[in-house]
Amino acid sequence: MKDIYIVLPEELGTIAPEIYGHFSEHIGGVMRDGAWVGKDSPVPNVRGWRTQIVEKLKAINAPVIRWPGGCFAETYDWRDGIGSDRPRRINWWMANDGRVETNEVGTHEFMDFCEQVGAKPYFAVNITSITPLQARDWLDYCLSPAESTDLALLREKNGRKEPFDIPYFGIGNENWGGGGEMTPEFYASVYRRFATVMGNVPSGTPKDFFACGACAEDFDWTQRLAVGFKEKHSKLDGMTIHYYCGGAGECTDYTVSQWYELLQKAEKMDDIIERNWSVVKGYGLEKSMKLVIDEWGCWHPGGSGPSKGYNLFEQQATMRDAVVAALTMNIFNNRCSSIKMANVAQLCNNLHAPFLADKEHCVETVNYYVFDMFKNHMGATAVRTVVKDNEDITRKVSASASVKNGAVTLTLANCSCERAVTVRPVLLGGASAGMKLRTLSAESRLACNTFDEPYKIVPVEAATNGKTVTIPKGGVAEVTIRLK
Ligand code: AHR
Repeated sequence: MKDIYIVLPEELGTIAPEIYGHFSEHIGGVMRDGAWVGKDSPVPNVRGWRTQIVEKLKAINAPVIRWPGGCFAETYDWRDGIGSDRPRRINWWMANDGRVETNEVGTHEFMDFCEQVGAKPYFAVNITSITPLQARDWLDYCLSPAESTDLALLREKNGRKEPFDIPYFGIGNENWGGGGEMTPEFYASVYRRFATVMGNVPSGTPKDFFACGACAEDFDWTQRLAVGFKEKHSKLDGMTIHYYCGGAGECTDYTVSQWYELLQKAEKMDDIIERNWSVVKGYGLEKSMKLVIDEWGCWHPGGSGPSKGYNLFEQQATMRDAVVAALTMNIFNNRCSSIKMANVAQLCNNLHAPFLADKEHCVETVNYYVFDMFKNHMGATAVRTVVKDNEDITRKVSASASVKNGAVTLTLANCSCERAVTVRPVLLGGASAGMKLRTLSAESRLACNTFDEPYKIVPVEAATNGKTVTIPKGGVAEVTIRLK
């Protein structure tokens, strides 16, 4: 048995709801045949968006969706995606999968999706292949008050009189790589050019600008960027981090030792956040900005999903992916004071996806259910947890806790895929008035939800004796403790 101390007086900060965000790129089957089925599709949809995905995102209070990339963003011209005449273009990923970009999903369609879901949009702006003025025009088109500019009039002609509400803009994507292979010094200058020009557009609500931060442990990028921002100040509300873990067997075919290998890689997220944040603080940038982990998840070899590889990067999700999701989101909760947002990659038919879909079929993966089990953390106050005897990954229990509306939400992941674990949550600085438990687990670590068996693995309520909870092997748990 493991004791888990929940130290109520030790508050860690508010868990921004945006930490539970999503990411949808024009890549493979994320949009077409995934979330977007088209207005004339026989698949139930609302103005082209798959009803099931909209409803299920609403059910987990999906707070924010990033779009249109990823790498795709860096050759995207927003003008291709408005009006009735939409050109077919080379998609950034076309060399990988041969699929042409039809532009049937553009600004208005994506905004409709966000409004249906009730999620905030986060736009990734191309800074590699359009000019700062063209980027500013996109903001003008979206944000300018009705009838105030020609682009606001064009927006109205295209069906939207009032401005859209777009609170977040990423200035570039992976500019250390696919976004122009820039050096940090060069990128800092480019960022400032774009941020200055884009900042001129008036907006009904504040808008945040995020700079492209490090690929995982590339702290050198973060440091040199921080020097660039320190030298010459610019509006800067966030710095991104991308971190994927993989390289431990196939998605649905892996050994016990590969289970632990992947979890150990996922755990690196903690160090990546801590060290990147230390650099930010070292340069005094933490006063104006926080970290935005706008791509994270498992990246396995493709081909395990329903399209058998046709959809680029599509993968299934087993309990190993669910445990990685829970472990990662526990890290985010525990480090919430330095994190503004995080976006799992990607929404549908892709890496670490909550949904897999094809024509009339659509299924929630185990990843989806982890978001469901964590949703009570949104907007709550995180408090410190201490887990005894927790160094060895084969016996580790990942944990985070938060307080909201007189109740503690404690989320746990049993990192052992070999044995169940019993834990005793101990409240320090408070007393329990009752405990509820939901668990997500499967008999086989390789099991997953499929079109044929969509509800094979779902959260179930489990009995507790009010003092201890048992988490099945390789399982995730949500414990709710009502406070006296
Ligand atoms: O999520 C897939 C790709 O991974 C994104 O387009 C890119 O930003 C990252 O390299």
